[in-house]
Amino acid sequence: MAIEVGDRLPESTFLVFGSEGPKEVPSGDVFSGRKVVVFAVPGAYTPTCTKEHVPSFVKAAEALSGKGVDEIVCISVNDPFVMSEWGESTGATSAGIRMLADPKGDFTSAIGLAFDAPPAGLFGRSKRYSMLVEDTVVSKLNIEPATACTISGGETILEQI
Ligand code: BEZ
Repeated sequence: MAIEVGDRLPESTFLVFGSEGPKEVPSGDVFSGRKVVVFAVPGAYTPTCTKEHVPSFVKAAEALSGKGVDEIVCISVNDPFVMSEWGESTGATSAGIRMLADPKGDFTSAIGLAFDAPPAGLFGRSKRYSMLVEDTVVSKLNIEPATACTISGGETILEQI
């Protein structure tokens, strides 16, 4: 079952690519005691994710910070090397967005948002969504009904906060 507003996020571990290679980031370090905007995508470098979804958050980053958001994170079922390169090439990393790899999809499956798009070669990926998380509890949630970015972009969650 998909996660809902009011639910607490499950504990999980992400990977980021740091100066010394892949590094584990416990979900508690990201969400505990903090106000965090999450957006998740079906895959790094896919067209909509790269040309629409990430740019919408790069554009909204400063305004979200102005509304008290401690951090914006992007989650994808990908490896940390790809997430790091994608963050650099889209300008997300420069905008302060942290690119969190969920390599086995453990977090994504635990919140009931796993997604397959066989024609695009995507299996065990994530639905496209955005959410506001306040001290590990989901307070806003925008899950896309399909692959397009219509309700999960940066401008929508900016209006909701
Ligand atoms: C896209 O981001 O363009 C995309 C995502 C999932 C399936 C196909 C395309």
